[in-house]
Amino acid sequence: RQSGDSPLYPLLEAAAGYYRQALKSHPARQAAVDYLKGRGLSGVIARDFGLGFAPPGWDNLMKHLGGDSLQQKALIDAGLLIENADSGKRYDRFRDRVMFPIRDSRGRVIAFGGRVLGDDKPKYLNSPETPVFHKGQELYGLYEARKSSRDLDEILVVEGYMDVIALAQQGLRNAVATLGTATSEEHIKRLFRVVPSLLFCFDGDSAGRNAAWRALESCLPNLQDGRRVRFLFLPEGEDPDSLVRREGTDAFRARIHQQAQPLADYFFRHLMEEADPSTLEGKAHLATLAMPLIERLPGANLRALMRQRLGELTGLDPATLGEHAERPSAPP
Ligand code: CTP
Ligand code: MN
Ligand code: MN
Ligand code: MN
Ligand code: MN
Repeated sequence: RQSGDSPLYPLLEAAAGYYRQALKSHPARQAAVDYLKGRGLSGVIARDFGLGFAPPGWDNLMKHLGGDSLQQKALIDAGLLIENADSGKRYDRFRDRVMFPIRDSRGRVIAFGGRVLGDDKPKYLNSPETPVFHKGQELYGLYEARKSSRDLDEILVVEGYMDVIALAQQGLRNAVATLGTATSEEHIKRLFRVVPSLLFCFDGDSAGRNAAWRALESCLPNLQDGRRVRFLFLPEGEDPDSLVRREGTDAFRARIHQQAQPLADYFFRHLMEEADPSTLEGKAHLATLAMPLIERLPGANLRALMRQRLGELTGLDPATLGEHAERPSAPP
């Protein structure tokens, strides 16, 4: 990881300033303003998250910040300009999009996401990997969430930019997003440095449900006793943005209160979809699936309790479950 003095930081900050200003005063701004309003966002939230607008056209940012060739090279390194490999022509990466600056934990702009105003593809365009932006480590909204409250006790982990911002708009300012990448152990470690409790709330679709299980797997090695992880599954087709806007804050909070599942509950429920413990074979399969995962838990108490629960579900003796690792099959 490059140290704090990268020359890319001031460039990214200047770009964020340019996009913010364009949302306020560029002649083509109205479509972007209408888009954000149409998604229920106020000017206050737009300001808090530093939202901006990359106007249509190939060289708006380049003209504004481009300067000499050396400066343009730095803009390419920052992921803001693209250089065509064949022609050598340079042009703005982000064009005609609503811009979401991604900040690191110190509040420095390190990357951007840009959303089309309509239904074009790709829906979101993100900065590439750069010396200051490492995908799979950053959490969108973490800086803003920490800024909103000095003592957060729980963080909501969601999938997208708009989920974070819509929740904040509705008064739930403790959400962060993994931005379409799988939740990594690095993400989890970072989050547990900030709060003792995590609540995953991914989209109500198969991608979201798969992402939840992968998040659980990343949590297991980091789930010391005293930490808590819960999962809230949304109705099919909903995401936190659509749901909180439809239902409002109180109903969303009630949903969390009534439906969020502790990690251990989700763990067994999910595995029992694959291994039906009403038969002996299913019980054996369940133990085989569960044991290696339970053994990853660093917290001795939760580990013991989950073994015990597995014992109840299978009839196997919790004390000896650990010894039931698969034996290699006999040679043919
Ligand atoms: N994503 C991305 N590129 C895409 C689609 C998605 O980078 N082409 C990332 C974005 O960070 C996005 C997240 O994955 O916010 C979740 O994707 P999705 O659920 O499809 O988008 P939403 O956030 O729900 O987008 P919107 O509500 O604006 O349609
Ligand atoms: Mn989705
Ligand atoms: Mn959405
Ligand atoms: Mn979504
Ligand atoms: Mn599965």
